[in-house]
Amino acid sequence: MKKKTINNWLAAIVLLAVFVLCSGAMSKFLRDEEVPYPADYRMWTHVKTGLIGPENPNFQTSGGYHHIYANTKAMQGYSSGTFPNGSMIVFDVLETKEQNGNTLEGSRKHVDVMVKDSIRFKATGGWGYEEFDKDSQVRILTQPLKMQCFACHSKRKDKDFIFSAFRK
Ligand code: HEC
Repeated sequence: MKKKTINNWLAAIVLLAVFVLCSGAMSKFLRDEEVPYPADYRMWTHVKTGLIGPENPNFQTSGGYHHIYANTKAMQGYSSGTFPNGSMIVFDVLETKEQNGNTLEGSRKHVDVMVKDSIRFKATGGWGYEEFDKDSQVRILTQPLKMQCFACHSKRKDKDFIFSAFRK
């Protein structure tokens, strides 16, 4: 083989290697389904509060008070019905405690998060789901559990997968 031909082959191989490495990195990036911890969500808009009592079958996991908070983008979604990318909504679950006839907030059970990214979370309706344990900021959802979040929220597909509404 002529030297020039060998050089062409080498160049082709190097280009191919670069392409394979890059596409590997790209697909890893696109597969990255990590939902960030919603820093400062307590400063966001408070959408509503609910109280899940002991008769509810979900009491064990979600019983107590839950407060829902939305960031600015998610607030656009609550008014338009379509949540833009970057929307984040937090479902903050707290135990209750009885004190002098009052039912007060107890310690935090977990922080559930939904984040909108129509590309990264295409497989789950454009929303990523995560749960952080207590105040630890540690992620605790396995893939099958994420699919359970998605399955129930899919009942609200016509409302962009969101159950709650914002009341002024
Ligand atoms: C069995 C059904 C069901 C499952 C499973 C479920 N949710 Fe929800 N979720 C709801 C309902 C109902 C509300 C609205 C509660 C309210 O209005 O007070 C809600 C509200 C939320 C909200 C506030 C935005 C909204 O839709 O109103 C977030 C965030 C959220 N859930 C995250 C999660 C995550 C994360 C998981 C999985 C760990 C999960 N949910 C599993 C039913 C479900």
